Amino acid sequence: MSTCDLTRDELIDLLRTDDVHALKLLRENAYATKLRAAGPIVYARGLIEISNVCIKNCFYCGIRRDRTMTRYTLTLDEIVECARTADHRGLGSIVLQAGERQDAKWVQFIEDALLALHRATRRRLHVTLSLGEQSLDTYKRWKAAGAHRYLLRIETSNRELYAQWHPADHSFDARLQALRDLRTAGYQVGTGVLIGAPGQTIEHLADDLLFFRDLDIDMIGMGPYVVHRDTPMGSLPVEDDLTRANLMLRMVALARLMLRDVNLAATTALSTLRPDGREQGLLHGANVVMPNVTPMLHRGDYDLYEGKKLCDSDHAIECITMKAAMLGERIGWNRWGDPIHALKRHERDCTATAMS
Ligand code: 5AD
Ligand code: SF4
Repeated sequence: MSTCDLTRDELIDLLRTDDVHALKLLRENAYATKLRAAGPIVYARGLIEISNVCIKNCFYCGIRRDRTMTRYTLTLDEIVECARTADHRGLGSIVLQAGERQDAKWVQFIEDALLALHRATRRRLHVTLSLGEQSLDTYKRWKAAGAHRYLLRIETSNRELYAQWHPADHSFDARLQALRDLRTAGYQVGTGVLIGAPGQTIEHLADDLLFFRDLDIDMIGMGPYVVHRDTPMGSLPVEDDLTRANLMLRMVALARLMLRDVNLAATTALSTLRPDGREQGLLHGANVVMPNVTPMLHRGDYDLYEGKKLCDSDHAIECITMKAAMLGERIGWNRWGDPIHALKRHERDCTATAMS
């Protein structure tokens, strides 16, 4: 398997060090690994925030169930329109993200939306879903309707910390099972964690990286924790913005070094904490960016954390293209940008089947 075996102690040292030379080497090695494993190319996914309705109540999240706020769900036509926009702009791939809902009406709505958007874009787009925990049956239905990839953050791989960040009825085991079910249903599977949130230690983060490796994950979408004051965790102290952003960059670099050929996102929350966050993410080995193509009308209501950037989709796409060009990278226009890691697994599986 194409991973580099950093030990837990080495990971902890690299997450903790203040040695400028060691940090420069870490960044350069991660970027060189990214160039070798994935080439000088950045994939842009059009992010569509289809609803901020959520049945969950995570203590850190601004769209948690108990928060009183304007709730919205895009119509099927609006989702199709966003997909068309992404397609016209040459994005090649979209992410449908929402709070969690598991009712039959919602499951059907997503299935209908998938079918409709593929019809409208002649199946040119690859679709990633980020819609939380669902049953294996639902994952299978959405896969059959045309979803290819699924992102489900474990948030933390530490069971006790998970319990601190969530109400008692949010089950760590159910989340783990959901990640396994996604693989069973045939998705390319992504996960990720919050970085720099209250109670989290460097040891927890090192274990998160080992967790990604052991799960043989295809895609990683980690993000720095950003305070939302109107949440139960909102009054707890955290390190300053730059410290959390830099911790995230180290995590990106280490994930690239360890997992090599996975897709790794430079997430929006990083640019909330550091104006050059996205470029830095790319320089530390990320190869995916996600310009937001949600209609501006609803953008402010997908209020996960404070200070979330709200620039329009043209601007977001232009910004990212320019930044990538400045680093000598190309954008993979009209490309699906499947993780090489998943393609290799697929090849291995096919060979095994052919030989059996
Ligand atoms: N800071 C950063 N990310 C957050 N998310 C939720 N709340 C916050 C926050 N305060 C992220 C979670 C979730 C995704 C939808 O948003 O990691 O998986
Ligand atoms: Fe809902 Fe996700 Fe926010 Fe938790 S983190 S409250 S599941 S949107």
